[in-house]
Amino acid sequence: MDCSTVIVTELYNGGSIDSHLKDMQALLQSDPQKALTMLSTSFLDLASGLKAMHDLGAIHRDIKPGNILVNVDPSGTIEEAALSDYGLTISTKEAATSHPLTTPLFASPELQRYGNYEILLNKFLESQIQISENPSINDTSHPFGRLRSNQSDDIWALGLTFAMLLLGESHQSINSTIRAATNASIWSSLDSAARRKLFDELFPPPIEVEGNGSPVELAKIEMHKLCRNMLSLVKAERYNADQVLAKCREIHAIIHPQSP
Ligand SMILES: Nc1ncnc2c1ncn2[C@@H]1O[C@H](COP(=O)(O)OP(=O)(O)OP(=O)(O)O)[C@@H](O)[C@H]1O
Ligand SMILES: [Mg+2]
Repeated sequence: MDCSTVIVTELYNGGSIDSHLKDMQALLQSDPQKALTMLSTSFLDLASGLKAMHDLGAIHRDIKPGNILVNVDPSGTIEEAALSDYGLTISTKEAATSHPLTTPLFASPELQRYGNYEILLNKFLESQIQISENPSINDTSHPFGRLRSNQSDDIWALGLTFAMLLLGESHQSINSTIRAATNASIWSSLDSAARRKLFDELFPPPIEVEGNGSPVELAKIEMHKLCRNMLSLVKAERYNADQVLAKCREIHAIIHPQSP
């Protein structure tokens, strides 16, 4: 960035949502109603932001809890969440001739497909081969081969972020589970059905509530389903931003029946 350029943004008084993960984990146990109310609002805000970006033809490429800012009330309740840090954001057009850069732990299975993304990234950083110098770079002449960023990578990264907030599990634990599922050596030998089966084992479908569950129970089940659809290992089955937003609206309405 030119040092004469200054970007002024609204101040988010709660900083990044990363620093709220532990509190959220505790709140989900002690006061699930309050925790899920906060989450449904945050999910809807973030889905709206992602949909707006994707409609503009952009790919964020660095969605993760550290890049989500929140506003909190004096008691610490999260009232609003927003995507931030557009340092890696590019247009879908630019993506055709750009390296698929992202934060390794949040890289989609497509980006992991030819091996460990972090190793590829390090190889790339050492090689400094630019796609723009040679757009026809093939699988063998460049660490990233034909891998390119896609809007579905954002869905994956946001789904992982939602799962971390919802399941209250640590970053590493969810990631190592997903990494196991996307390990390149086993991944390439599996067909779609086998990939789905593997995913179901790792991230089981929610147990449906018989009859009339409470709004909190229903919302939690729907959030769990949303995460599964955003984290589908089969890219063609993964939700797009429209579907994510529609589902987040539905979930928000379950928890906030009076709101518009
Ligand atoms: N508008 C804002 N309001 C409140 N806090 C902010 C705001 N912008 C940034 N921050 C704080 O600064 C941190 C870093 O900001 P940002 O993600 O934009 O840069 P960065 O993390 O240094 O860049 P990179 O992710 O590329 O390393 C955020 O996680 C957040 O805690
Ligand atoms: Mg950042």
